[in-house]
Amino acid sequence: MPEKTEELRKEFESALAEVKDQAALEGLRVRFLGRKSGLLTEILRGLKDLDPEERRLAGAAANRLKGEVEARLAETEKSLKEQPKKISLDLTLPGPEIRLGHLHPLTRVIQESVGFFEKAGFQVREGPEIETEWYNFDALNTPADHPARDMQDTFYLAPGILLRSHTSPVQVRVMEQEKPPVRIITVGRCYRRDAQDASHSPVFHQLEGLMVEKGTNFTHLKGVLTMFLEHIFPFSFKTRFTPSFFPFTEPSAEVSISCPVCQAKGCSACGHSGFLEILGCGMVHPKVLQNVGYKQKDLTGFAFGVGIERIAMVKYGIPDIRLFYENDVRFLHQF
Ligand code: PHE
Repeated sequence: MPEKTEELRKEFESALAEVKDQAALEGLRVRFLGRKSGLLTEILRGLKDLDPEERRLAGAAANRLKGEVEARLAETEKSLKEQPKKISLDLTLPGPEIRLGHLHPLTRVIQESVGFFEKAGFQVREGPEIETEWYNFDALNTPADHPARDMQDTFYLAPGILLRSHTSPVQVRVMEQEKPPVRIITVGRCYRRDAQDASHSPVFHQLEGLMVEKGTNFTHLKGVLTMFLEHIFPFSFKTRFTPSFFPFTEPSAEVSISCPVCQAKGCSACGHSGFLEILGCGMVHPKVLQNVGYKQKDLTGFAFGVGIERIAMVKYGIPDIRLFYENDVRFLHQF
């Protein structure tokens, strides 16, 4: 009898090694411990027909095996439950496309412009977006009753405190702090009380340049700006300087380039003028040099202000300024 339980143990162990899932395990349990005809159940049931001496030995062996079988079944059940479920995996399936991020078109124009001016010997300066009326207007020779203030109406936060309407106040801040020669640029957000349409936004970006140094004249201004425009626009064009007015420069000019859409023949993109206005500039007004405390008599300089959105619109052929701020990826991913 004990030999029989020993054989049964071996049979159980080898059958258990084949068990791969819960159903097979249940089958094994029934085969050995099933109440009707389990192999071990039969042995236990047969004990009563044995001699007392034999029954004692065989009974002990069979009961030990029963305990072992139950423990092994419970153990296997536990480890089957812990096994991770098999996932069907198709290694040939192409993975989802990972789109690379990139710079916003305005950031690109800013970086390309700053890169140009840095190479040309200009240093980068910063100024606040919240300005005083003094820096934004008065110091720039634009007193309270000057009609030029109308074109740059802005948002007032408190009496005398406003959101800067251009980057020109940085000119004044830099000249107050630094002695000539000054060659600086600054880039940043500007604000105006303009209704939003295809070409206006109450928030926009400017790049300002200032060079003040004995002997600086209009040809330097023309040269620097012509080279800048040739650097920034990837197509061929003609540059045009036309007389203009700014209270803080004299003489002043507006710079336009021939329309790249119609080659200056006139089309809807250039309002049938053949030219696109790009920036404002001029020789720094002596009043401004005086306001910042520069006393040297023969000091001259030039300044310019470029609309970053304007450059980006012409460079990439973007018809509506609002596209820059909507952050629609269908628009942005084209750059
Ligand atoms: N600040 C002027 C504007 O926003 C542009 C400008 C800058 C003109 C510097 C001349 C010199 O319209």
